[in-house]
Amino acid sequence: MDIGVFIPINNNGWLISENAPQYMPSFELNKTVVQKAEAYGMEFALSMIKLHGFGGKTEFWDHGLESFTLMAGLAAVTSRIKLFASTAVLTIPPAIVARMAVTIDSISGGRFGVNIVSGWHKIEYSQMGLWPGDAHFGKRYDYSTEYVTILKDLWEKGESDLKGSYFQMDKCKLSPRPSKPIEIVSAGQSDRGMEFGATHCNYNFCLGEGVNEPTKAASVPARVLEWSRKTGRDVGAYMLYMVICADTDEDAMAKWDSYEKGADRKALEHLLGHAAHDVNTQDTSMAAVVQRNPSPINFNMGTIVGSPATCARMLDDVAAMPGVKGIMLCFDDFIQGMDDFGTKIQPLMKCRQHKLQLAA
Ligand SMILES: Cc1cc2nc3c(=O)[nH]c(=O)nc-3n(C[C@H](O)[C@H](O)[C@H](O)COP(=O)(O)O)c2cc1C
Repeated sequence: MDIGVFIPINNNGWLISENAPQYMPSFELNKTVVQKAEAYGMEFALSMIKLHGFGGKTEFWDHGLESFTLMAGLAAVTSRIKLFASTAVLTIPPAIVARMAVTIDSISGGRFGVNIVSGWHKIEYSQMGLWPGDAHFGKRYDYSTEYVTILKDLWEKGESDLKGSYFQMDKCKLSPRPSKPIEIVSAGQSDRGMEFGATHCNYNFCLGEGVNEPTKAASVPARVLEWSRKTGRDVGAYMLYMVICADTDEDAMAKWDSYEKGADRKALEHLLGHAAHDVNTQDTSMAAVVQRNPSPINFNMGTIVGSPATCARMLDDVAAMPGVKGIMLCFDDFIQGMDDFGTKIQPLMKCRQHKLQLAA
């Protein structure tokens, strides 16, 4: 069972609340988080790409770094952990991303992978004149399919001559090629998104659901499994959960209650409004999940709140769901959260014992 961290590349991480820790993103913060992740034996770190925030009192996600350049810096100050950067496919041509990935592959010694972001938050792209029209919502995975085909052609053969609906390549060259295959991941929740993941990617990141209901999202990794059976590729689900830990269950729940009370309504209105724009929404899409709860202060992602023993038990429950190959964590307070995870939670997790023994 792999464990990774969703690093805070934008301000305030994933809590849209005035009562949550307020902080800006920086290289120093992310370096500390990823070096701790490496020291505690975590397998991977992912940075998202977010190009427009939600405003409100907390200026939620109005402040953000860029994913590839951040991961290039982190590659130079780590030695073992796998690093994934995210490309918003509408913003960077695939031939450039292929080359950036080879560069970070070289910096990291083969520890780098790419997360394909097809785009659900229109304003990120329309603000820079890159939104191709709302028809993109329905075609985004076709667009991404051509995009990854070009990446793979360039990495595997050093040339792409794809003549597609969205990209016209003309014997486009790439050299040097990566030292070994660069992993591609995605995070589609819709059927089309999961089909894309099962066809082209190594892992499908998935949103957990529910507060202290670790197996509420069991149907999600089951769908990843089903899609991977259909395509015959061994694609596992990496489940996203937020961990809020304190010495006792009561203290941890008091933190969560306080975050809920401090919900930044204005920022949430932006999120709900923009999620509603996604005209491709299926019941399983992120846009639909976000809209199901009137107070999605953490995007309704799966949330685990409790003492170290409670968190460890629930994370073991997540790990036991069929189809789950890994868990990606985020925290209310990333520095304290990483230390709590590494020193108090992980040692109690049954699904980590094997890896911890190997590391010892
Ligand atoms: C773990 C995880 C990481 C994601 N990273 C990004 C990101 O970096 N940028 C972004 O705009 N969307 C990101 N998303 C959204 C997904 O790319 C995808 O659009 C969303 O889950 C909806 O799936 P669907 O397109 O199949 O409906 C992420 C989602 C998850 C669960």
